Amino acid sequence: MTTVLTGIKPTGTPHLGNYLGAIRPALELAKTQRALYFVADYHAFTTVHAAAEMRDQVHEVTATWLACGLDPDKVTLFVQSRVPETFELCWVLLCCLSAGQLERGHAYKAALDRGEAPNAGVFGYPALMAADILLYDVDNVPVGQDQKQHVEVARDVAQRFNHAFGETLVVPKPVIGEAPLVPGLDGRKMSKSYDNAVPLFGSAKELRSMILKIKTGSEPLEAPKEAGPSSVYQLFKLLATPARAEQMVQQLASDPKYGWGHAKQDLYEVIEAELGPKRELYQRLRSDGAYLDEVLRKGSEQAREVAVGTMDRVRKAIGVR
Ligand code: ADP
Ligand code: TRP
Repeated sequence: MTTVLTGIKPTGTPHLGNYLGAIRPALELAKTQRALYFVADYHAFTTVHAAAEMRDQVHEVTATWLACGLDPDKVTLFVQSRVPETFELCWVLLCCLSAGQLERGHAYKAALDRGEAPNAGVFGYPALMAADILLYDVDNVPVGQDQKQHVEVARDVAQRFNHAFGETLVVPKPVIGEAPLVPGLDGRKMSKSYDNAVPLFGSAKELRSMILKIKTGSEPLEAPKEAGPSSVYQLFKLLATPARAEQMVQQLASDPKYGWGHAKQDLYEVIEAELGPKRELYQRLRSDGAYLDEVLRKGSEQAREVAVGTMDRVRKAIGVR
C-alpha cells in the first residue's frame, strides 16, 4: 500500500482554495492509501510569533480537517512539533542540500523581492518540509501548484542522500490535483496574503456577500457572456457536476435572462450545499479544544513511531551513534 502525506500551516483562516486545492483531494487519496496529514506549526513559526495565536490556529486547522471529513481512526492526524525527529532529519538534509538550491526557493525569493529581510527559517523552509515528508516513507504528496517546487526539493535530496549513503529514504512525488490554482474574489490565486479568500466556515450570510464581491464583466443582462475567464465559473466548475457547469456556460452565452447575478446565486448555492453541513460540525469541534488536543496527541504518537524508525536508519547510514 502506498503512503500519502500533506501538511497545512496554521496561519490564518482556512479558505476555499485550501479546501479545493489541498484538503478535499487529500481526503479522496486517503480512501485508498495509508494517509498522514498534519498541522505544520513550526513552518508557521517563520511568521507567527505569538503564542496564543499559534495555539488557536493549530486548533483551527485541526477542526477544519475533521469537519471536512477526516476520520482520525483511519488517517494519522498529527502536529509537526510533537515529532522532534523532524528537526534532527532537517539538519541532516540541510547538510545534503546546496545553499544555491535554497536560494532559488520561491518563498525566499518572493520575500526578498518584496523588499523584506526574511529570517533564516524562510531560507531553510524547503529543508524542513523535506524532513516532514522523508520521515514517513511517503510516496505521494498532494499539494497546490505553489508547493510543487518544495516537494521537488524533497525528492531531489532523498535521491542525493540515497546515492551517497545507500538506499535509505523513500523518494516522494508531488501530486497536483484538478484544482491547482483556485482563483480568489479578484481573479488572482486565492490566498490569505491577497485578501481575496472565501473563508471556509464563515456564516452563510458572509459567504453570500463575498460571492457578490467577485469581479465579473459589466455586460448588460441580455448580452452573450463568456464564462471561462470568470472566477464565478471557475469556482462553480470545481463544485458542480460537469453537466451543471456546462449549463452555466450555455446560459451565460445565450440566455438573455441569465446574468452574472444569477451565476453568483448558483455559485452560492453549490458552495453552501458543500460547506453548510461541515460548518456546523466545525463550530462544535472548534469549541472543544480538549478533544482536538487529544486527537493530535494520539495521532502524533503514531506518527512518531514511524519517524523514530526512519531516524534510526538515517543515523546508521551517516555513521552517527
Ligand atoms: P495561502 O496561499 O492562502 O497562504 P497555504 O500556503 O497555507 O495557503 O496553503 C495550504 C495548502 O492549500 C497548500 O497545499 C496549498 O498549495 C493549497 N492552496 C492554497 N491556496 C490555493 C489555491 N488558491 N488553489 C489551490 N490550492 C491552494
Ligand atoms: N509548506 C506547506 C504550505 O505552505 C505546508 C507543509 C509543510 C507541507 N510541510 C509539508 C505540505 C509537507 C506538504 C508536505 O502550504
